[in-house]
Amino acid sequence: MDVQQLEQTAGALVTKGRGVLAADESMGTIGSRFKAVGIESTEESRRDYRELLLTTPKISEYLSGVILFDETLRQNASDGEPFSQKLKENGIIPGIKVDAGAKDMALAPGEKITEGLDGLRERLAEYRGLGARFAKWRAVITIGEGIPSMRCIDSNAEALARYAALCQEADIVPIVEPEVLIDGDHTIERCAEVTETTLHATFHAIHRHRVHLPGLLLKPNMVISGKQCPVQANVEQVAVATVECLLRTVPAALPGIVFLSGGQGAQQATAHLNEMHRLYPDLPWVLSFSYARALQDLAMKTWAGKPENVEAAQRAFAHRARLNAAASRGEYSEEMEQLTAA
Ligand code: 13P
Repeated sequence: MDVQQLEQTAGALVTKGRGVLAADESMGTIGSRFKAVGIESTEESRRDYRELLLTTPKISEYLSGVILFDETLRQNASDGEPFSQKLKENGIIPGIKVDAGAKDMALAPGEKITEGLDGLRERLAEYRGLGARFAKWRAVITIGEGIPSMRCIDSNAEALARYAALCQEADIVPIVEPEVLIDGDHTIERCAEVTETTLHATFHAIHRHRVHLPGLLLKPNMVISGKQCPVQANVEQVAVATVECLLRTVPAALPGIVFLSGGQGAQQATAHLNEMHRLYPDLPWVLSFSYARALQDLAMKTWAGKPENVEAAQRAFAHRARLNAAASRGEYSEEMEQLTAA
């Protein structure tokens, strides 16, 4: 384990004013996102779409890293150059999703456990050879009637910590993603309670597994009202609840925290991040983004699988990335939504 290299990569991923794009949707997920906007999912359409994102002009001003799916890390862009190489040349660090997905947990109705530890050491070595310098593992915690159970939280925390240790052994920075889902009618207070318990369990497991904190990033959900909750917390309430929860649970030795968007609207996800910076200008870690949907939704819809829409889609993508980069410095305002991308 090269501690210096891990710290350097982790630090570079949270350079102030930039964030991470999650473009690592599994086959099933990209298939359903494409289907929703009328695009057929084929190896070629997935490559074309990801090429559109990754070759967007000026995107390295806003992105420090991109999380890729296995298929994309092995693919070449249309000019024959591997995507990982293209990113590197553009000053963007290539990353890789390494979990095998959240599966139904045995004897735990409604709860999920993320799989993918078997053979992970070998896969990480291969991914490093292909250019990946950081990785992601997503655990899913569901709020509902009588759930989450402590055994679901602890089992997922244990898997996250074992994944993180394996990553660091391979000189790959682990992004640890315990996602408390937004789905449900729960209140923001319930989300805060579950998120706090989940993060405590996660960092306890990380400590047990001797993971080096300065070489690790956290990708949490924001503390937010359930999507179907009749009372929706406002932007300030979400920012306060989220940061207060993180201050109580995340060690200051961590270089950064990059949020997932988790089904929030694109504008909402940007406003929440900005508000955290506005209210808390002096935090122990860098706070930034690692969004998938909140960065991609409009770009994907604009593209709609048509070559003639590539430029417009890239403009939409760059615009969203720029607004989030501004939010990660606390410099976003709603008026900026109206300005078209350069
Ligand atoms: P969303 O921003 O769409 O939640 O995705 C982030 C992610 O990488 C989920 O694992």
